[in-house]
Amino acid sequence: MTDFSDKVVYQIYPKSFRDTNGDGFGDIPGIIEKLDYLQELGVDYLWLTPFFPSPQRDNGYDVSDYRSVNPLFGTMEDLEALIRESRARSMELMLDMVFNHTSTEHEWFQRALAGEEKYQHYYIFREGAPDRAPTNWQSKFGGSAWEYVPGLKKWYLRLFDVTQADLNWDNPEVREELKEILRFWKDKGIRGFRFDVINLVSKPAQMEDDFEGDGRRFYSDGPHIHEYLKELVRDARIGDCVTVGEMSSTSLSHCIRYSSPKEKELSMCFNFHHLKVDYKDGDKWALMAPDYRKLKELFVKWQTGMQEGSGWNALFWCNHDQPRIVSRMGDEGIYWKESAKMLAGMIHLMRGTPYIYQGEEIGMQNAHYPSIDQYRDVESLNYYEILLENGKTKEEALATLAARSRDNSRTPMQWNKGAFGGFSEAEPWLPMAAGFREAITVEAQQKDGNSILAFYKKLITMRKQYPVIAKGTIAFLETENDMTLAYERTLEDQKLIVLCNLDGKEQKIKISPEWSSCPVILQNGRRTEADCPSCKDTDFGTFLTDTGRTLTSEEKTCTMKPYEFVVLGNRTLKQL
Ligand code: GLC
Ligand code: CA
Repeated sequence: MTDFSDKVVYQIYPKSFRDTNGDGFGDIPGIIEKLDYLQELGVDYLWLTPFFPSPQRDNGYDVSDYRSVNPLFGTMEDLEALIRESRARSMELMLDMVFNHTSTEHEWFQRALAGEEKYQHYYIFREGAPDRAPTNWQSKFGGSAWEYVPGLKKWYLRLFDVTQADLNWDNPEVREELKEILRFWKDKGIRGFRFDVINLVSKPAQMEDDFEGDGRRFYSDGPHIHEYLKELVRDARIGDCVTVGEMSSTSLSHCIRYSSPKEKELSMCFNFHHLKVDYKDGDKWALMAPDYRKLKELFVKWQTGMQEGSGWNALFWCNHDQPRIVSRMGDEGIYWKESAKMLAGMIHLMRGTPYIYQGEEIGMQNAHYPSIDQYRDVESLNYYEILLENGKTKEEALATLAARSRDNSRTPMQWNKGAFGGFSEAEPWLPMAAGFREAITVEAQQKDGNSILAFYKKLITMRKQYPVIAKGTIAFLETENDMTLAYERTLEDQKLIVLCNLDGKEQKIKISPEWSSCPVILQNGRRTEADCPSCKDTDFGTFLTDTGRTLTSEEKTCTMKPYEFVVLGNRTLKQL
């Protein structure tokens, strides 16, 4: 098993990264063009969301051919050049394997439709009357999870869009096909794989109605999931690659099994519990302010739980399905910089592998589209209709999308202050974020040593410099305040203490005498003695003024500035 604990992954959404041929869609040559930037940032793996042939109903998560490149993004030669050029800069690619479902345009599904029984067994078809779906399960994109095919007099399962038909993993032939796809890409030089909604692939043999929920409790972390993953990894010979599974509505005990090295399943897992703390009653489409107490509890649970079980977390706030974190839990106004840095530091120094989603490193914000015509995402368009049907006004529905739409993260990457942010010469496929301005561009932040971009670089450098970040244990500290979070990382005699104020207001944090004489390693702002009148009489107020001062306080509380972030390290660390 390769040691990946000091690695950092950067996620690229190719469609919105950089367009080189002026068609408004990002492409693979555009990624090659930006490799120097990525190397400079210091990341190790580039996760590319799907670039395979696809009708693009779900932006490539509806794959119609797993072994080719969609001409929209370039050619196989472009991809080979990308692999080569990345490696020349010490970076590896991580491909996105969408194995829960295929596009209905995939040859397998087309042959199933044409009546070939072999291929009907590749999917989950059920007999049934046209007016009664086999179960009452709901699609994740809204509506029934079943679609009727009159020609076959059968229904097929589709947990996502109607054009994304779920594969039948209980059929060994399907599992063999998927292994071959992995071997194909490994032979091309791919050393990383991200598995899309992989914990949904094992469905129960008998499917029944769900009278408590939408059906997910029957197929999430399903009956044969661990068996199938072990077999896939072993037979495709990808045990030496970095692998991450996207786990939908999962549990801690399953994630320990997915990612504990002794199980020989995956390197790590994404879970989404911490990104549901602003869902009212668990409903993504019901707005609520984030519940910070719950957020803290979830970090404590998953960080310490995965540690105890020898599992490994993927650490992330952002991806192509999530709104921008600075808009969601930070501040788009005066504390834009501070909050973006605090949120970054908070997760990068935890135990696990950090993921940066394109644009996060420059504090990109939500799209703030004023009109429904600007949205492209199938889930957003479906839910807009559902919200209207449920009696919401257009304004309310738009406000909900503005906070929750996946298009928030898919707006074009902001490279420079040009008309389309240096993303393209032409009108992009998805409009620029409404708040696009020079300060939120790579070019501006490269010139500023105090930028969000510079801060991300520091975090990555620290991970490589201080083994305590990659390999240390984690323990959370009692701050006696829901709005402040503190944890310590320990590796032999090295120790780091991370202090975060999650709020846009000043907040108290409890200081333990144990933290005394610890120099500041990193902070997200400038602090003066006047910022903390309560500890003026101790050195705590001054130790935060700049790196290298010491703390000699008694146990007491200190005031942290809005979104303040401070990392203390013990002397051993300082000497590194
Ligand atoms: C994952 C992807 C998302 C996609 C869905 C169906 O959640 O991240 O973008 O729509 O799976 O493939
Ligand atoms: Ca293009």
